[in-house]
Amino acid sequence: MNRVTVNRVTVNRVTVIGWDGRPLTAAAVHALSTASVVVGGRRHLDAVAPLLATGVATITLGNVAAGLSELSAHLAADGGPAVVLASGDPGFFGIVRALRRLRLDIEVLPATSSVTLAFARAGLPWDDALVLSAHGRRLDRAVNACRAHPCVAVLTGPGGDPAMLGAALTALPRRMFVAEDLGMPTERTTWCTPPQAAARRDWRDPNVVIVVDTNVHDTNVHGTDRVTPDRPTTEDHDSAGWIFPRRASPPGWALPEAAFTHRDSMISKAEVRAVALAHLGPGPGDLIWDVGAGSGSVAVECARLGAGAIAVDHDTDACARTRANAHAHRVSVEVVRGAAPDALTELPTPDAVFVGGGGPEVVGACARRARRIVVVALAALDRVRPSWDALVCAGLDVAGTQLAAARLRPLPDGALRLAATNPVVLLWGAHTGNQHDPR
Ligand SMILES: C[S@@+](CC[C@H](N)C(=O)[O-])C[C@H]1O[C@@H](n2cnc3c(N)ncnc32)[C@H](O)[C@@H]1O
Repeated sequence: MNRVTVNRVTVNRVTVIGWDGRPLTAAAVHALSTASVVVGGRRHLDAVAPLLATGVATITLGNVAAGLSELSAHLAADGGPAVVLASGDPGFFGIVRALRRLRLDIEVLPATSSVTLAFARAGLPWDDALVLSAHGRRLDRAVNACRAHPCVAVLTGPGGDPAMLGAALTALPRRMFVAEDLGMPTERTTWCTPPQAAARRDWRDPNVVIVVDTNVHDTNVHGTDRVTPDRPTTEDHDSAGWIFPRRASPPGWALPEAAFTHRDSMISKAEVRAVALAHLGPGPGDLIWDVGAGSGSVAVECARLGAGAIAVDHDTDACARTRANAHAHRVSVEVVRGAAPDALTELPTPDAVFVGGGGPEVVGACARRARRIVVVALAALDRVRPSWDALVCAGLDVAGTQLAAARLRPLPDGALRLAATNPVVLLWGAHTGNQHDPR
């Protein structure tokens, strides 16, 4: 049957066949041998050519939108049945999403996803991994996810190959597992460091890259490339092994100051951090700078929420404290010792910036780099106006508030009193339209 009627509307039937290099199932062979039109990439069409009836129409997929509009035209004229060939599991980062937008009755015959195969070849579990596609997207989002998450699989594509990924991850303690041509006679898998990946020019398409944090995973146990958890992560207790994808946010945030090592209470208070984080909106794929980091509490909180985080401070002790806090919270924060704004010049472009110290010049420099928002915390009132002006000068929409929390404290007799914390002015400057970007 080429067409079926659903809710009194007649739709065309399309079988979507996944391909992973293994022999096709009987159902897939039958669909191919009875198809009137077959759509797929060049290598997939070549692989199934002997199974097709003579005279069957084929559509070579390059540009997906163009290919699917050709398929629609064919179905309107001929009625099918149609077969669409795709790699791995077509429902996972595959063509099923685009096909759903057409009025079609879709049957999917999946093969093993390249992501499943890559983790299998690496001998790694992946129910706690982050999987993302660099296809037609900004590579820095994949890089930022790799900064924050200890195990990430990247579906690579034009503009985001293993060499580019390696070059962007060079400064971080990461190892990469590159799986090329999975399921094909030319399959090749390689463990390497980011600089090694960056130096190579002969990576073959298609490939999947697994990026693991060597602080969390020991990738060189007994001289092999087996990856074994080195020390438990919070996720080991919270979400690994029972939920997929893993829980995206920690059980709590805007943590009390006592959750961080800090000097003389020089730390953003929890209430101020809560509002700052609400404006920063850190999440997977983002990069957040914490400038004038002090204890690094904001950077650590952003990393806990899944964002890549870079903490900048000119003070050696502040850098050491930030590292200690990141370690204690089992998150990855890149610490840069140096004075802003000069120290910011070479850093990758941030989505959001928190300025905890540095003055209006630093605020201006951050405002010119941030993609989405800059949040500034100020205790000194004489810095409010120049900081506001610096945000406005950079073309941002600026707003601000004064925050003065008074915390409840028990008195010796059991009564409660209010203990005031120091008032702080919080400013935020956002690029118009970007503030509520759903990403
Ligand atoms: C549009 S996605 C499709 C993913 C597919 N649905 C799956 O489950 O494997 C295309 C990307 O999948 C990966 N890929 C697909 N086939 C592959 C293969 N045989 N070997 C390595 N990577 C592959 C590559 O990263 C490629 O750029």
